[in-house]
Amino acid sequence: MLRSVQSASKSSKFAIRNYASTSNPERKVTVLGAAGGIGQPLSMLMKLNPLVSTLSLYDLAGTPGVAADCSHINTRAQVFGYAEDKELGKALEGSDVVIIPAGVPRKPGMTRDDLFNINAGIVKNLCTAVAKYCPNALVNMISNPVNSTVPIASEVFKKAGTYDPKRLFGVTTLDVVRAKTFYATKAGLPVEEVNVPVVGGHAGITILPLFSQAHPQANLSESDIEKLTKRTQDGGTEVVEAKAGKGSATLSMAYAGAIFADACLKGLNGVPDVVECSFVESNVTELPFFASKVRLGKNGVEEIYGLGTLSDYEQKGLEALKVELKASIEKGIEFARKNN
Ligand code: NAI
Repeated sequence: MLRSVQSASKSSKFAIRNYASTSNPERKVTVLGAAGGIGQPLSMLMKLNPLVSTLSLYDLAGTPGVAADCSHINTRAQVFGYAEDKELGKALEGSDVVIIPAGVPRKPGMTRDDLFNINAGIVKNLCTAVAKYCPNALVNMISNPVNSTVPIASEVFKKAGTYDPKRLFGVTTLDVVRAKTFYATKAGLPVEEVNVPVVGGHAGITILPLFSQAHPQANLSESDIEKLTKRTQDGGTEVVEAKAGKGSATLSMAYAGAIFADACLKGLNGVPDVVECSFVESNVTELPFFASKVRLGKNGVEEIYGLGTLSDYEQKGLEALKVELKASIEKGIEFARKNN
């Protein structure tokens, strides 16, 4: 068993005492918004990931505390905390993966699109810094509305001349996590054996779980499938309402974000057949961005899979979601171009 001594601060005095040696390459993961509801548990989960050698935690405030706390966990990654704008560059430099859960979450009665006005600007600024300090990093966008923030990021990177569509991901893993959980519970299957692709986008009806392609197949009625679909689409709202004004999904999102970042790291490290659903630049449909199964590799997206055969119900859902998704994508692109 390999051990490492962790630094409790960004002081290199401690950093050089790390004598971890492992067959896994050095990988720096940066979390932007690391002191938030998602950021904190996600930072902890990334600290537990043996593929991470450096964990860089950035937020407007509070990150020295989160970093000091995380750094005491006896796992490989060295943890560094950065706060305030002036430290953003240092936080990002050399990152292999940048995870972005920075921004405001929903309150009851709000849609993800209601967050646009605040989060669009935050994402734009953070992505401008990503383009400057770690243009080759894989970007995992969690900040909502993902259907718009990913197109914003793409425009920022295009303007900076660093855009590589293979390296920009909208994190839709929580939709997959929910679909798996709800399906397994309904079908009475062991949840760890269940897989359900979820395609489209990440908001309301744009979230389209493909239960007809779920594995293993269970004999569920059409009405059950409709209920499961609706519950997956409204999963976020279920949590927002239960939290009654204290935010949206944080723990399940941190779990989902950690799964997706792990998949990105495995891909970078050359692990074969790493497949996750993600909202990426795509030609699977006529829309410029779309979530579907992607294979991750050394350059990020290696392959985008088609949708396969859909049931009539899913086909109808697909047609219905395109209108909303198209509008959200265009809204993001327009924002980025106007605020250039
Ligand atoms: P939160 O309010 O608890 O935390 C957000 C953090 O972002 C705060 O610590 C805040 O200081 C930080 N922040 C704000 N502006 C920043 C900036 N310019 N630079 C760095 N950090 C900044 O919110 P929570 O619950 O963590 O949610 C974060 C985002 O994730 C929200 O937009 C939410 O809608 C989204 N989300 C996405 C999901 C998905 O499936 N993709 C699921 C759940 C939430």
